Amino acid sequence: MNMFHLKLLLLILLFHATESAFPDTYQWISIDCGAESYTLDTETLINWEPDNEYIQTGMNKNVTQTYTNITMQMQSLRYFPQSTNTPNCYFFITDDIEKYLVRASFYYGNYDGLMKPPTFDVSVNGFKWMTVVTSSSQDKPIVIEAIFSLGHDSMQVCMESTKNGDVPFISSLEVVQLPFTTYSMIDLQSAFLLQQRATFGRREDVEYTGDFTGDMFNRIWKAEGFPNYNNISSSPQFMEVYVENEPPNTVVENAIEASSLFGPIILSFNPSQTNQSLCAILYFIEVSNLRQMNDSREFQIDIGTTKNASAVNLQLGNSVVVTLYHEWVDGPVNITMKAVQGSSLPPLINAMEVYSTMKMQSPPSSDASRVLLSFTYFVLCFLCILI
Ligand SMILES: *[C@@H]1O[C@H](CO)[C@@H](O)[C@H](O)[C@H]1NC(C)=O
Ligand SMILES: *[C@@H]1O[C@H](CO)[C@@H](O)[C@H](O)[C@H]1NC(C)=O
Ligand SMILES: *[C@@H]1O[C@H](CO)[C@@H](O)[C@H](O)[C@H]1NC(C)=O
Ligand SMILES: *[C@@H]1O[C@H](CO)[C@@H](O)[C@H](O)[C@H]1NC(C)=O
Ligand SMILES: *[C@@H]1O[C@H](CO)[C@@H](O)[C@H](O)[C@H]1NC(C)=O
Ligand SMILES: *[C@@H]1O[C@H](CO)[C@@H](O)[C@H](O)[C@H]1NC(C)=O
Ligand SMILES: *[C@@H]1O[C@H](CO)[C@@H](O)[C@H](O)[C@H]1NC(C)=O
Repeated sequence: MNMFHLKLLLLILLFHATESAFPDTYQWISIDCGAESYTLDTETLINWEPDNEYIQTGMNKNVTQTYTNITMQMQSLRYFPQSTNTPNCYFFITDDIEKYLVRASFYYGNYDGLMKPPTFDVSVNGFKWMTVVTSSSQDKPIVIEAIFSLGHDSMQVCMESTKNGDVPFISSLEVVQLPFTTYSMIDLQSAFLLQQRATFGRREDVEYTGDFTGDMFNRIWKAEGFPNYNNISSSPQFMEVYVENEPPNTVVENAIEASSLFGPIILSFNPSQTNQSLCAILYFIEVSNLRQMNDSREFQIDIGTTKNASAVNLQLGNSVVVTLYHEWVDGPVNITMKAVQGSSLPPLINAMEVYSTMKMQSPPSSDASRVLLSFTYFVLCFLCILI
C-alpha cells in the first residue's frame, strides 16, 4: 500500500470519525499547493500539508516576486503546463450528504518570469465554479470560496485551461466539513458561491484564530464600517444566544445602526457575475445597551425591487437570521432596512453573507465525463486496497 492509498484510507477514516468537540481542525484539510514539506502555522496550529497526495498532475514552483506581506502558503504553487486531456484535479473523499466549505487561493507572483498573469477556469465535479483572472499588479491573492453540498462521495477541484491556452495554477486549497445544522437552506447537489461575508461595525476581520474566539468553520468575516452609520457594540456578557449558522460572538456582538430613526440602512453590492440567483443571509441581534424596556426595533427589508421582502421585530436577547433570495439581473443590488411606523429605534444589522447559487445536477459535460473516468480509476484503486 503506497502513501497515496494510505492517505485515502486515512481520509475515509477521518470523515467517518464521530463528531467531536469544536474546533475540529484535525479534520480540516489545508493544502499548501506546490510546497515540498509540511508547515505548521504556530498561531492557528493549522498544519499546512503539501499536495502531492491529492493530485497527480502539474509541477511545483515558487513565486519570484511578492508585493506585500503574503503568507507562506502563497509563496509556492502548483502549475499545469500540459495541455493534454488529463484534467488537473485535486481529489477528496467526501460524505454525500454533508456540506463542505472550500477555499482556493491563487497568487501569481510572476512565478514563470513572464509577467503574464493567466486566466483559467476552476470547476468542481465537472461544474464550472469560477473563471479566475489573475493579475501581475495585484498585491493580494485571488481567493474564491464556496459551500458545496455535492450529493456525491468524492469531490474533484479542477483547474482547466480556457480557450486562450493560459497555464493554470493554484497556491492553496482548504476544505472544511460544516456541521449538518448550518446552512440548512443549501439543498443536496447545489453550491453557494461566496460573494461577500461581512461583520459590521468592527475594525478587524474575524477568522479562525486557534482558540474559541474566532470562526470555528474557517470562514473569514471582513470588517465593514461606514461613516454614515453608527458603530455599536454590546457588553461582553450578553451573548448567550444561539444564532443560526453559528457565527462567532465577535462577528455578531457589534453592528451598524442607522443614524436616525427613519433613516434607512442601504447595503449595495455589485455582483461579480450577472444573471444568477442570489442568496443573502442577514444576521440581527440586539446589541444596544441603551435600549429601554418599552423600546421596540422593528423594520422592513427590501431587496432589489422586492419591497418588504421580510420584516424583523428585534427583541432583547434574541437573534433573527433572515435568508432572502433574489434573481440577479445586471448591475448592483441594494438591500434596504428601514424602520416601520411605531418602532422607537432605528434598524441595525450585525453581519451578512451573500452567495450566488448553483445547481449541480445537470448532465455532466464532456469535461465532466473525463473527470468521471479518472474518478473510476480512484475507485478501483480504493477497491484494490480493500481486498
Ligand atoms: C521553494 O522554496 C523552498 C524554500 O525556500 C525550497 O525548499 C523549495 O525547494 C522551493 N521549491 C521549488 C519548486 O523550487
Ligand atoms: C507586514 O506585516 C507586519 C506585521 O504584521 C507589519 O508590521 C508590516 O507593516 C507589514 N508590511 C507590509 C509591507 O505590509
Ligand atoms: C465606524 O467604524 C468605521 C471603521 O471600522 C469607520 O470608518 C466609520 O467612520 C465609523 N462610523 C462612524 C459613524 O463613526
Ligand atoms: C438568465 O438565465 C436564464 C436561465 O439560466 C436564461 O433563460 C436567460 O436568458 C438569462 N438572461 C439573460 C439576460 O442573460
Ligand atoms: C419609554 O419610557 C420612558 C420613561 O420611562 C420614556 O421617556 C420614553 O419616551 C418611552 N419610550 C417609548 C418608545 O415609549
Ligand atoms: C411587511 O410584511 C410583513 C409580513 O412579512 C407585514 O406584517 C407588514 O405589515 C408588511 N409591512 C408593510 C409596510 O407592508
Ligand atoms: C442603491 O442605493 C444607492 C444609495 O445608497 C442609490 O444611489 C442607488 O441608486 C441604489 N441602486 C439601486 C439599483 O437601487
